[in-house]
Amino acid sequence: MEQTLSIIKPDAVAKGVIGKIVDRFESNGLKIAAMRKIKLSREDAGKFYEVHKERPFFGELVDFMTSGPVVVMVLEGDNAVVKNRELMGATNPKEAAPGTIRADFAQSIDANAVHGSDSLENAKGEIEFFFAKRDIS
Ligand code: PPS
Repeated sequence: MEQTLSIIKPDAVAKGVIGKIVDRFESNGLKIAAMRKIKLSREDAGKFYEVHKERPFFGELVDFMTSGPVVVMVLEGDNAVVKNRELMGATNPKEAAPGTIRADFAQSIDANAVHGSDSLENAKGEIEFFFAKRDIS
């Protein structure tokens, strides 16, 4: 069993599609092992996306991720990291395959509905960023 971190981003929370997105995970064999709705501070968002801090869009990414509440989740299941990325679709919703979360619920490359860890190693760090061991079951 693998675990991965998922974030439902401010655009999708504002659209009222938390339930529809959670349903995609649960219907495809990913269990919600932990879940919390929070508002990221600029410091939190900057730390979480530190790997992108030299990229030209870093400021916009932090602005967007702090523009409203997000839902952070630990997803658990076989091959969870890759399965979550498949369910999400491509980063740019215009390139996302039909039926993926981003194709169905996202507007643009920044307001793209969901984040998912891109490797098992990064998943461990991202899960620890938001959750204590006792939060996950
Ligand atoms: S990926 O999946 O990490 O390879 O995608 P990448 O293209 O490297 O993008 C990393 C995250 O940055 C967001 N992003 C942007 N935000 C604002 N403006 C622009 N132009 C932009 N381009 C990319 C993108 O949504 C990724 O967010 P996460 O949360 O990691 O999915």
